[in-house]
Amino acid sequence: MRILVTGGHGQCGRRLVVRGAARGVEIIARSRAELDICDPSALASRLVADAPDAVVNAAAFTYVDGAETAREATFAVNATGAGNVARACAAQAIPLLHVSTDYVFDGELGRPYREDDPIGPVGAYGESKAAGEAQVLAAGGTVIRTSWLFAAGGDGFVQRILAGLASRRSIRVVTDRHGCPTWADDLADALLELAACGAPGGILHYTGAGATSRHGFACAIAEAAGIEVTRVVPTTSEDDPRKAARPAATVLDTTKIRALGIVPRPWSIGLAQVVDAERGRRCGRST
Ligand SMILES: NC(=O)c1ccc[n+]([C@@H]2O[C@H](COP(=O)([O-])OP(=O)(O)OC[C@H]3O[C@@H](n4cnc5c(N)ncnc54)[C@H](OP(=O)(O)O)[C@@H]3O)[C@@H](O)[C@H]2O)c1
Repeated sequence: MRILVTGGHGQCGRRLVVRGAARGVEIIARSRAELDICDPSALASRLVADAPDAVVNAAAFTYVDGAETAREATFAVNATGAGNVARACAAQAIPLLHVSTDYVFDGELGRPYREDDPIGPVGAYGESKAAGEAQVLAAGGTVIRTSWLFAAGGDGFVQRILAGLASRRSIRVVTDRHGCPTWADDLADALLELAACGAPGGILHYTGAGATSRHGFACAIAEAAGIEVTRVVPTTSEDDPRKAARPAATVLDTTKIRALGIVPRPWSIGLAQVVDAERGRRCGRST
């Protein structure tokens, strides 16, 4: 099986390459320079040339605060670009898995979000991803919503917490935002399993098992690194303002994907491996 990945050099794309290799699946990971999803004709010709059995759209504008001031550029990628990928795939009858986000919800529901719960994004990033979902679904693609991705390498939440604890005695992390961390390797495996089934259509939720707060996640990172967790000091969003509003509680209900036999693992399993890999990188050990 051959899978084309857009945004192939991003966090999700890189782990699809690793997990594809482990599972004997050929992954063609195209960087933005190789394949710009804002260019419909480049998409059409690339699909002909690469002839994939399925496509994963992992390309996105993911800078949540930056999206507030770069709305046009954000929507060009996350809405129109996602639609371009979906329409190109539909034209060539290629199954598409499109990665989306818990940020399409407002975070006020008070229970885990099911796939058919009403969306209500609170910022430009979430609005653009919601618009992208609509275009993907209209073209017959499958939407996989996930949350709080982390992976070895790059500059994600895990890396920022470790860097903060390496350079300061204490760091402050909010207690009033809740969700499910998701190891990008586990998401990659789920995407590969879905691709092998030809993509079921509609919307599916996939996250790591277990809800926590940002503070709880940061404490788990410190603990995995052997760092005293009291150095992670609780704070609130009110005391830690950001340019973009963020939803308060976006735990995603994964019942639907479990029924397909794809059962999320506790995110702590991946966290231990990622923290170990990051500490190895700092010590010059190759990972
Ligand atoms: N990270 C999270 O916590 C999280 C949570 C929930 C959902 N998601 C979703 O998961 C997906 C993957 O996220 P990620 O964490 O892997 O993001 P990422 O690391 O920022 O990767 C996104 C990739 O998309 C590329 N890209 C941007 N514009 C493009 C364009 N016009 N054409 C082709 N490629 C383009 C970027 O390239 P450049 O760097 O060169 O611009 C980057 O390599 C996204 O759909 C995101 O919305 C992420």
